[in-house]
Amino acid sequence: MDTFEEIKLKGFVEEEIDPTLDLFVEIEKLKKEKNAVILAHYYQEPDIQDIADYIGDSLGLSQQAAKTDADIIVFAGVHFMAETAKILSPNKKVLLPDLKAGCSLADSCPPHLFRKFKENYPDHLVITYVNCTAELKALSDIVCTSSNAIQIVESLPKDQKIIFGPDKNLGAYVAKKTGRDLVLWNGACMVHEIFSREKITKLKERYPNAKLLAHPECEEVILKMADYIGSTTGLLKYATKSPEKEFIVATESGIIHQMQKDNPGKVFIPAPPNNSCACNDCPHMKRNTLEKLYLCIKNEMPEINVPQHIIERAVKPIERMLEISARLGL
Ligand code: 13P
Ligand code: SF4
Repeated sequence: MDTFEEIKLKGFVEEEIDPTLDLFVEIEKLKKEKNAVILAHYYQEPDIQDIADYIGDSLGLSQQAAKTDADIIVFAGVHFMAETAKILSPNKKVLLPDLKAGCSLADSCPPHLFRKFKENYPDHLVITYVNCTAELKALSDIVCTSSNAIQIVESLPKDQKIIFGPDKNLGAYVAKKTGRDLVLWNGACMVHEIFSREKITKLKERYPNAKLLAHPECEEVILKMADYIGSTTGLLKYATKSPEKEFIVATESGIIHQMQKDNPGKVFIPAPPNNSCACNDCPHMKRNTLEKLYLCIKNEMPEINVPQHIIERAVKPIERMLEISARLGL
């Protein structure tokens, strides 16, 4: 097996896998043996979504991580999500199939720069989108996700001054919906900024009845065209409830697997990016594979650890978000 240093360097455990093994059966066996639970985000590849015990958006996943009684949480998602699980369940072992599954949005907000930025607004409260590092959460007052950001802002008094980071697109959308004047950090997600307004307009000509579903991490030009804006869970629920049959989906393409599974009679078209590559696949989310997931649960590595002093500060804003969400039935 790889040494700890090798795993850190590559990001994952590399080991030959017997090609005759049915990885679905093996992972199921290991899960029972080790009392492990697999939590997967909708942006994971279809095989991973199919073997997961729970699939969800960032809010759903953190709610599950807080309440699970498993000994091991295998987080099929990206680094900040696994960190959040560890902060909420510090006594559990939290595993991530590939340590290098990062996030461009989290990277767009280095904590030492945010700390300086925050010093310019001493009377502001800090709300951070969950897509950020544990260190950034430790500098925050409340965390939010794309499914509760509006309600979290609205839970504060109208005259409360607020810094919102790191996503400027979600921040601008929340400011517009709540009528609040938010101070925004200038960060963004590489996947959600790639959609082309021109190509979506052309696609709408070909599918005139198609509804455009967009994640609030998209730019304002895309959100302005959207028929529905919501978190991944919100988009999935909307598509399922809607009597319409065709949808253009402006978020990471992984969600289409679940949309199609829940709605076999409907058509889901990924919104086209502004170039010819498959850029609406998140390269970080897609670093996890079924093989890496199997090796990760088998070897109980790579493991996510967060320094105790960060856990102590970061847990408060996350718990505050979970409390507000529970109170509002989100
Ligand atoms: P949600 O899970 O809140 O829909 O956010 C999507 C995302 O970008 C996760 O990385
Ligand atoms: Fe980060 Fe964007 Fe990938 Fe989500 S889709 S993990 S925000 S880079």
